Amino acid sequence: MRITKYIVAALIGGWGGSVFAQDAQWQLDPKPVAKIQPTMYGIFFEDINFAADGGIYAELVKNRSFEFDEPMMGWKEPNSDRHSLNEKSGMAKVIKEGNEPNNHFARIEVKDANGYKLINEGFRGMGLSEGANYNLSLRAKANQPGIKKINIALIAENNKAIGTATITPEGKSWEVYKASITATATVSKARMLITFEGNGEIDLDMISLFPEDTWKGREMGLRKDLVQLLDDLNPGFLRFPGGCIVEGRTLDKRYQWKKTVGDVANREMIVNRWNTEFGHRPTPDYYQSFGVGFFEYFQLAEDMGAEPLPILSCGMACQFNTGELAPLEELDPYVNDALDLIEFANADVGTKWGKVRADMGHPKPFNLKYIGVGNEQWGPQYFERLKVFIKAIKSQYPEMIIVSGTGPFPEGEQFEYAEKELKKLNAEIVDEHYYKDPEWFLDNADRYDDYDRDSYKIFAGEYAAQSVDIASPKNKNSWQCALSEAAYMTGLERNADIVYMTSYAPLFAHVDAWQWTPDLIWFDNLKSYGTPNYYVQKLFSTNSGTDLLSLTGNNQPVKGQERLYASAVMDEKSGEVIIKMVNANAAAKEISLVPKGKKFASKATQLLLKSDDLDAVNSLDTPKNVSPESSEIKIKGGTLKMTLAPNAFYVIRAKLK
Ligand code: AHR
Repeated sequence: MRITKYIVAALIGGWGGSVFAQDAQWQLDPKPVAKIQPTMYGIFFEDINFAADGGIYAELVKNRSFEFDEPMMGWKEPNSDRHSLNEKSGMAKVIKEGNEPNNHFARIEVKDANGYKLINEGFRGMGLSEGANYNLSLRAKANQPGIKKINIALIAENNKAIGTATITPEGKSWEVYKASITATATVSKARMLITFEGNGEIDLDMISLFPEDTWKGREMGLRKDLVQLLDDLNPGFLRFPGGCIVEGRTLDKRYQWKKTVGDVANREMIVNRWNTEFGHRPTPDYYQSFGVGFFEYFQLAEDMGAEPLPILSCGMACQFNTGELAPLEELDPYVNDALDLIEFANADVGTKWGKVRADMGHPKPFNLKYIGVGNEQWGPQYFERLKVFIKAIKSQYPEMIIVSGTGPFPEGEQFEYAEKELKKLNAEIVDEHYYKDPEWFLDNADRYDDYDRDSYKIFAGEYAAQSVDIASPKNKNSWQCALSEAAYMTGLERNADIVYMTSYAPLFAHVDAWQWTPDLIWFDNLKSYGTPNYYVQKLFSTNSGTDLLSLTGNNQPVKGQERLYASAVMDEKSGEVIIKMVNANAAAKEISLVPKGKKFASKATQLLLKSDDLDAVNSLDTPKNVSPESSEIKIKGGTLKMTLAPNAFYVIRAKLK
C-alpha cells in the first residue's frame, strides 16, 4: 500500500519529476511567510499515570493525612490489634473531626511500644538517594498522655534502616514537628517505619517526607529531575490540569481550582478519575492531594518561561463516563470559577483572589493570557455552555484569549459539527486531539494546508502516535511512532500561520503505576528518561525559530511525497535558517536544497535522531538509546546536498550568505 501511494504521488504530483529520480530537488525561499508563535511547542500536563502525586510532586508519603476513601490505604500495621484479637500492641483508628476539608487524622493507641509499628509504603515505594537529606514533618497531639517519643526510620527492602529521626511530642494541642533525615543508601522502594516509646494515645496527621533537593529548592516542592526534563523542552506554554481530569467522572469530582490553592493541608483531597478508569490497569490508591495545585502550575509555567494555559470545566462531566450536565441556569458557579481564576492570576493584591495569590508568595501577577473552556466536549450542550463563558469572560476581560475544543476525534460528524459551531461563535483558538496510528500521522502531514485562513487558530492540544490501538496497554513509545510524529510536526510547522500551539499527550508515566501508554516521559522513584517522542518534541521546541520560510519541491510543500517531509524556519536571534527533514523510508534518500538568491555558508550544525530499528525504545536502563546526535557538517557550493539515512529525522542549522 505504501509503495502504491509513493508511485501515485510521484506520478500525479510530479514529485521529483519521475519515480526514477535520484534526488529530491528542493528550494528554500529565505523571505519569511509567517511568524512562528512563541507558544508553538508546549507541554500538556495531566495528573494521569502518577504524574502529580507519586510523580512531579516530590511528597514520598502516600495518604499522608488519612483522607483516602479507605483511610488506612498506604499504611500497614503489621502487629496491630486489627489483625489479631489476641495481639495487644496497639492500633490506629482514623477519626473525622469537624467539617473542614481534610478532616481525618489517625489516633494511634499504643499498648505495647515494643510491638506496635506503623508503616507507610510510599508511592510504589519511596526513592531515596545516598547522602541526600529528607525533610520530615508531621502534626501530632496527645490524646492520652504517655507517648514520649515518635521514632521514624526509613527502611530499605531488606528492612534495614537507612535513616532515622526522633520526635518528642509535647502537649494536647496540634503541633507541627520537623526533622531532617540523611539517607545512608540509595533505595528505590524504601518505606517509612514509625514506632513509639511509651504507651498512650497520640493523634497524627499530615505525615510528610520530601527530598530537600527539589526543583528550585522549594520546600515541599517538585521533583527536580522531572521538572528539568520539562524545562529542557523550552516550552512555549504549559496546559494544566488536563485532560479528562478537568471534567471529572461526575461534576462533583471535576477539577475545582479553588480547592487547590492556599495551605496545602487544607486542599480537599479527591479520588483521581484515572483510579479505576481502565479495568486492566486499576490503581485504587490513586488520589489527588493537590499538593500541585493551580498556584504551583502557574509558578511552574513562570519558572520555565511558558505561558500558563489553564483549562476549566464548562459544566459537563466526562462524556465517556456520566456526561452529567450542569443546567444552563445553574452555570454561574462554573463561569465564576473562570472569572475568579483570571482575578487570581492577574489582579491586584487588593482583590479577593489577588490576595490569595499574594498570600501564597506571589504578589506580582502571573500574566495569564489564555483560558481553556472544556476539554473533550461534544454536541450542542458544549456550544450552549461555551457561549455563556465567552460572553462572561469577554465582557470583563476582552483581551483574554479563549481556547475551546472540537472533542476527542479529529474527524467525523461530531468534529464537523464542532467546526461549524465554533466558527459561528468566532472561536479564537481551537483544541484538536489525535491519538492515531503512525501511518495516519504520515498521511496527514498536510492536514492544515487547506484549513480556512480566515477563521480560528489551531491548538493541536493532545496527540501521540499509537503503536497498537488507542489506550491499549501494549502501546510503546517506539521510534516508528516518534518518527511519524516528527513528519507530522513538519506539517504543523509549515502551517504556523494558523497553528499556534501544539503539545504531545500524555506527558508523564510511572513505570509501576501507569494507566495510559504511550507517554512522553517515564520514571520510577529515582530515575527518569525521555522517550524517542520526547526527543522529537525537544528538537522542534528548541529549534522553533521565529519566522516560517517556504521550502518546496516542484512548487509543492514537502509533505510526504516519496515519504519525505520538510519544513524550514529562520531564527532572527541567531540569524540561522533551521531545516527539519524526515525520511520515513526504509532506504536512504538524496536531497538537495537550494536557497533562492542566496547560498548556504560552508559550515552547519546537524542534529540527527534515528534508529535502524523502528521498534526501538528508550528505557530507564538505556535512556539515550534513541537520542539526538549533534555534529558539524560541511556544505559545498552553497547548496545543501545530503543523503538522508533511512527512517531518520534531521535538524540542520545553517547561515545564508
Ligand atoms: O491524554 C489522556 C486523555 O486523552 C486525556 O485526559 C483526554 O483529554 C484524552 O481523551
